[in-house]
Amino acid sequence: MSGSGIRPRVVLVGPMGAGKTTVAQLLASQWGTASRDTDMDVETAQGRSVSDIFVDDGEDAFRSLEAAAVAEALRSHRGVLAVGGGAVLDRETRHLLREHRVVFLSVGLSDAVKRVGLGSARPLLLGNVRAQIKTLLEQRLPAYQAVASATVVTDGKGPEEVAREVREAVQAAEAAQAAEAAEAGGAAEAGGTCGGVERR
Ligand code: S3P
Repeated sequence: MSGSGIRPRVVLVGPMGAGKTTVAQLLASQWGTASRDTDMDVETAQGRSVSDIFVDDGEDAFRSLEAAAVAEALRSHRGVLAVGGGAVLDRETRHLLREHRVVFLSVGLSDAVKRVGLGSARPLLLGNVRAQIKTLLEQRLPAYQAVASATVVTDGKGPEEVAREVREAVQAAEAAQAAEAAEAGGAAEAGGTCGGVERR
């Protein structure tokens, strides 16, 4: 866990076509905070597109850059963070994510294909987009579920509706956490010295 106290308010995970980047931007503007996207962090740091990195250096090289970008964003970003769809493949990244408030934006095959588009420029979808997405969804579902504390189903919904559901889930979790902290604080006070009388 980061010792600085800086952490994203929420991290969005999920497959390509789940709407992570759009929803992160919407949520961030509603909360008056910043949104960040690890694909963009990698592209900015490298000065080239994700597709170019896949083609020039291969997927493994991209995954290392991505894992470093996620780790850096988790310790330095206070707003809403969207991480690339494959980031959860990395064991260390999954380990780090478990220390954060993570929401899984789930999407079924047909909505994912519609949103990504059959002519997608995404490097992992070259060839048969539908078949590739189907395989990725099936393979990665357990990893998304393992790191997330809440799931928002995005099928048939627009970004505004998804953002509202994420907002409600996060705010409910924050309220529960605050109530728990207050209760723990009260219990500690009641167990200590109060008005000169030691309580046990
Ligand atoms: C990938 C998802 C992409 C991007 C890269 C690989 C994946 O990000 O990181 O093309 O493996 O699912 P988005 O999920 O933001 O599209």
